[in-house]
Amino acid sequence: MDATRTCLPDAPIDAGSIAPALLDWYDRHRRDLPWRARAGEAADPYRVWLSEVMLQQTTVAAVTPRFLAWTARWPDFASLAAADEADVMAAWAGLGYYARARNLVKAARAVVADHGGVFPRTEAVLRTLPGLGAYTAAAVAAIAVGERAVVVDANVERVVARLFAIATPLPVARPAIRAAADTITPDARAGDFAQGMMDLGSSICTVRAPKCLLCPLQPHCRAHAQGLAEALPAKAAKKAKPQRQGTIFWLERDGRVLLVRRPDTGLLGGMRALPTGPWQEGAPPGLADAPAAAAWQLRNATVAHGFTHFDLQLALAVARADAHHRPESEWWPIADLDAAGLPTVFAKAARAIMRRED
Ligand code: ADE
Ligand code: SF4
Repeated sequence: MDATRTCLPDAPIDAGSIAPALLDWYDRHRRDLPWRARAGEAADPYRVWLSEVMLQQTTVAAVTPRFLAWTARWPDFASLAAADEADVMAAWAGLGYYARARNLVKAARAVVADHGGVFPRTEAVLRTLPGLGAYTAAAVAAIAVGERAVVVDANVERVVARLFAIATPLPVARPAIRAAADTITPDARAGDFAQGMMDLGSSICTVRAPKCLLCPLQPHCRAHAQGLAEALPAKAAKKAKPQRQGTIFWLERDGRVLLVRRPDTGLLGGMRALPTGPWQEGAPPGLADAPAAAAWQLRNATVAHGFTHFDLQLALAVARADAHHRPESEWWPIADLDAAGLPTVFAKAARAIMRRED
């Protein structure tokens, strides 16, 4: 270990030195991402807000092409407010956590209807918009408006837990991490500071094998000084997820497949989907909830999908429909299924079925 280290294990952290060191690093190494303003230009609140919502549960690599396609189609609050909600839901397909897409439309409509088309500029008013929780409001206030706000996402959480050697496991450590982040957030350039911490977390202070030797904060970092970098933040042991089962029904007729729209509330609410029965623990997959009487065949293969709160294993039931089956329903051209905007679990099931089509 470095004998000249400046931060002994229990020495008070030098809070005032962290922001200047980080901002200097950010100015030289910041990622060029499509929602970021170029140096010297003002950030576009619409793009910052949209990117922060997309990035909440999804990686930068997955978000970037989706962000570009989305902003080409709906470039501002007015166009998104005027969009058809079903188109927006389909455009979100595959990004998961679909309430985010519904709230994007609601918030855009609120900006137009209640705020004269101008995005609110304070964290407190931002919090009143649909889907703007503490994280998003703080991120938008800091990045788009330049307010001093404390922005803590998973990357920032990891960097701060390490800088301060906070050994309490997550999620119990969260308030302490937040309080520590507050002590190092500067009054000026809070948005650049937040994004610098995010970039540092994704490129240098990584979950595994952090590159402490390249880190601009290494002289101030307690975890590094204590040899604990990779061990922090500690995580409480995970509870095993419930295992649920269900059946997906593929009803086909003349090159088309039956799709349904899921109820607005509940999991994957409002999304186009393949028909499926309830998803329950310990329920053997069966044909009881088939959308029509037909000669259903259960495939040997199953499809697995992990949701946040449970794992799902789906049996696949396939049948051909007669002309009189559900004439009022949506029969989607199978060759064009990519354009249906199916959530990932249904897209996976469809791919599994099509791979093995007779
Ligand atoms: N993750 C969440 N917000 C981000 C941002 N503005 N830049 C990079 N990664 C992010
Ligand atoms: Fe992370 Fe290492 Fe930098 Fe500390 S020195 S902030 S552990 S990369």
